[in-house]
Amino acid sequence: MATEPLHTPDFLYGTAWKEERTAALTELAIRAGFRGIDTANQRRHYFEAGVGEGLAAAYRAGLVTRADLFLQTKFTYQRGQDHRLPYDGSASLAVQVAQSLASSLEHLGAEHVDSFVLHGPSSADDWGDADAEVWEAMRKERDAGRTRLLGVSNVSLQQLEQMEAGHAELPTFVQNRCFAHLGWDGEVQSFCKERNITYQGFSLLTANAEVLEHPALIDFAQRLNATPAQVVFSFARAVGILPLTGTSDPEHMKQDLASTRMTLPPEVILAIESMAE
Ligand SMILES: NC(=O)c1ccc[n+]([C@@H]2O[C@H](COP(=O)([O-])OP(=O)(O)OC[C@H]3O[C@@H](n4cnc5c(N)ncnc54)[C@H](OP(=O)(O)O)[C@@H]3O)[C@@H](O)[C@H]2O)c1
Repeated sequence: MATEPLHTPDFLYGTAWKEERTAALTELAIRAGFRGIDTANQRRHYFEAGVGEGLAAAYRAGLVTRADLFLQTKFTYQRGQDHRLPYDGSASLAVQVAQSLASSLEHLGAEHVDSFVLHGPSSADDWGDADAEVWEAMRKERDAGRTRLLGVSNVSLQQLEQMEAGHAELPTFVQNRCFAHLGWDGEVQSFCKERNITYQGFSLLTANAEVLEHPALIDFAQRLNATPAQVVFSFARAVGILPLTGTSDPEHMKQDLASTRMTLPPEVILAIESMAE
């Protein structure tokens, strides 16, 4: 059974692709009001040690304590990594999982994370034996107290159904790219809703240019005195998606957080739901 998350924030700040700006942007995001931080122990796209530096700076400045934050990281298979592996690539998958999380905790200066996510199953089609082995190792990390909760990312409905059919413990979180033209990942979202799994959506802006540029959406935004991006984030929350943003712009950080206080009229939600169909 998925465990109901404690203190999951309204918005997650994503730290991908920030390289040497990672520490400063992580601190800035916390200063702006973000309390959920998403990272991964995948040096190719994330600089997790930089996230840790940003957290340390935020603690030193008295902005927050560890208890105020929701920290999420990921285990990434070797084929998603470059040469900078956070584990011994010749070790068993179970050992790789343990080494990856130990390294994440060191990077983040934390005793535990709040969520540990499988970055993506080992194949695009199935939930395979490798995934079952990794998932079991992740469960052990959770039982040992090194993460509170578990998640799976880049996962299809079929893979979630295979997990369930194989009696695997279901994740607390699913983190997927959310394409409007796929009904906002509607099938996976429905699976999650029925099982009390929190759906985290990324690329809500970058995957959905046709929605952001849609005349009706621009009109809604003007009527609500908001930006099109705010309307998309507010819509996401209204339909039960926990959104991620990786903005590097302080003004966008404020706007994104302010979108959590907006309420969209039901007819606007319905219109956006079907906008890209
Ligand atoms: N699990 C996975 O495989 C996976 C894959 C991709 C991403 N993620 C996670 O999701 C996070 C977010 O990534 P993303 O793919 O959604 O893209 P993103 O990094 O959030 O990029 C959003 C783009 O939209 C622009 N933008 C314009 N107005 C904005 C506004 N009001 N708010 C926010 N952005 C605005 C941003 O530019 P400005 O910087 O100028 O605002 C930026 O270029 C990542 O950092 C990562 O943590 C996970």
